Amino acid sequence: MLDSLGDWVKTHDCNSLGRDQVDETVIVMGWVQRRRDHGGLIFVDLRDRMGITQVVFDPQYNARAHEHARVLRSEYVIAVQGKVRRRPEGMTNPKLQTGEIEVITSELRILNASKTPPFQIEDDLDANENTRLRYRYLDLRRPKILRNLLLRHRAAQLTRNYFSSQGFLEVETPVLTKSTPEGARDYLVPSRVNAGKFYALPQSPQIFKQLLMVAGFERYFQIVKCFRDEDLRADRQPEFTQLDLEMSFLGEEKIQELMEGWMALLFKELMGIDLQIPFPRMPYAQAMDLYGTDRPDTRFGLQLINVTDIMAASEARVFKQAVERGGLVKAVRLPGGSTLSRKELDDLIDYVKIFGAQGMAWIKILPEGWQSPITKFLSDDVRTQLTARAKLETGDIIFFVADQSKVVHDALGNLRVRLANQLNLVEPGTFNFLWVTHFPLLEWDHEAKRYTSVHHPFTSPLEEDLPLLEEAPEKVRSRAYDLVLNGTEVGGGSIRIHQQDLQERIFNALGISSEEAQEKFGFLLEALQYGAPPHGGIAFGMDRLIMLLSGSASIRDVIAFPKTQKATCLMSGAPSEADIRQLLELCIKVESQQRS
Ligand code: AMO
Repeated sequence: MLDSLGDWVKTHDCNSLGRDQVDETVIVMGWVQRRRDHGGLIFVDLRDRMGITQVVFDPQYNARAHEHARVLRSEYVIAVQGKVRRRPEGMTNPKLQTGEIEVITSELRILNASKTPPFQIEDDLDANENTRLRYRYLDLRRPKILRNLLLRHRAAQLTRNYFSSQGFLEVETPVLTKSTPEGARDYLVPSRVNAGKFYALPQSPQIFKQLLMVAGFERYFQIVKCFRDEDLRADRQPEFTQLDLEMSFLGEEKIQELMEGWMALLFKELMGIDLQIPFPRMPYAQAMDLYGTDRPDTRFGLQLINVTDIMAASEARVFKQAVERGGLVKAVRLPGGSTLSRKELDDLIDYVKIFGAQGMAWIKILPEGWQSPITKFLSDDVRTQLTARAKLETGDIIFFVADQSKVVHDALGNLRVRLANQLNLVEPGTFNFLWVTHFPLLEWDHEAKRYTSVHHPFTSPLEEDLPLLEEAPEKVRSRAYDLVLNGTEVGGGSIRIHQQDLQERIFNALGISSEEAQEKFGFLLEALQYGAPPHGGIAFGMDRLIMLLSGSASIRDVIAFPKTQKATCLMSGAPSEADIRQLLELCIKVESQQRS
């Protein structure tokens, strides 16, 4: 039943035929999207990666082709030779690029059959994601996923061209390497020829790109896979792609400017959007204060308002106590929010509890007065001050959380986003960029009981804060910056330490002994002694960026073969057990763990 391709060559793709080709004889090839039998005529929607063309089999026109077409089923692979003709009056399909024409078939070649697919190859299918991932090669036939990957391809091309034109060299760095300092768990690879030793897959090319600066490459970039064994979320994958960059002899302003030029190009070329550059900049401390997060979504207001001083003077015990324990009271005013129902308020209170808040107080500003479980604790003076500070108006609701600052910020930062989603406060198609700068250099790790780097240990401190390094390390700000798009961190980088003595001081502050530093990053420390230029860089999460550009809800929709939340590949079955001979060769003994 199957035919061979013979010497046929595709003359057009399935998206390119139109009025201009009427009466031409063409050859099109692809998959049967749908077959319909209509009173003797057979219609097939033929699909390839570019689009769909309707082909017709008419026994009057060619009886043999029509007879042959009877066996066609969904996803059969066919080649069709025929003539392009206008569709009859009333039969055109304006939704289809090729909707004005059809191809009347003179010869059909059936190149392959297909089993019935486990789900329909269509955009609006409601197939379960696990089934789609199990048959990913079929899922990838869906126009939406295909479009995402096309967008990704074009973004990569534009990126390569842009950075090449700016004097950057694309250099590959090793995948079998040593542990890198990004702070997640490593994926380890055992070495057969060095029994008992392991490579680590890179969490980023961080050290190598710095070494390329020492080598004098001056401007480096790479579109590169990175590997991190961390808990997965909708915007995280165990292996993901970075656009990784490093530059010498430039400060943060110039680096940011180069990145803005790239982003503006991507948006112009891929989305037809003129971005406003330069992007706004906001110091970390201000982002935390106003938005409760270091990656604020600035597409809507609902900023946090600090009311600690006012509420400390109220009679409400929860507020007073939180302040006495060194905490904060912050509020979010939702204009017009007094119409929220009791049930909606209870849901919001349950929501903030996820982030550690004990509860959340609220006040509705109604025409007849303030309504709230806490009004009786609020004196006239407190009311006047709150009204002025929060600019309260009739019809508003204001929410309060009192706790340690981390809890207050987590709770209200997330509440803002939830309210914006719930009440559709975000104008669709808005892209708000923000550089968040001056991150703290170090943070206290309660478990390890020592300071750790907020970014990584090669990040340069702000020179003016250096005197604080020994007596108040948590107050030292760094020269690190993140690029945030609509509340998602799409990139992060910093100016690096290029002098060995400062690097040692930082290791000291981090409680890393010189032996440990030597053992982990000795090759970088050594390189810094051979004339390292001032340098800095940044890396962008390409998957995340394409996810946002394509309007996808999950990073998995822009990756050809993604992993599940449990870091498995449902199609190939990875990870899988290793053959006992392989393990013996690697001198690895696996204790099977009984899981209950
Ligand atoms: P950082 O760790 O901030 O910096 O990573 C840079 C960007 O990579 C993306 N990203 C991820 N995307 C998907 N899945 C993940 N698991 C994941 N983890 C990170 C984010 C993030 O902004 N070497 C430094 C960069 C530098 O200092 O130059 C680094 O890797 O979008």
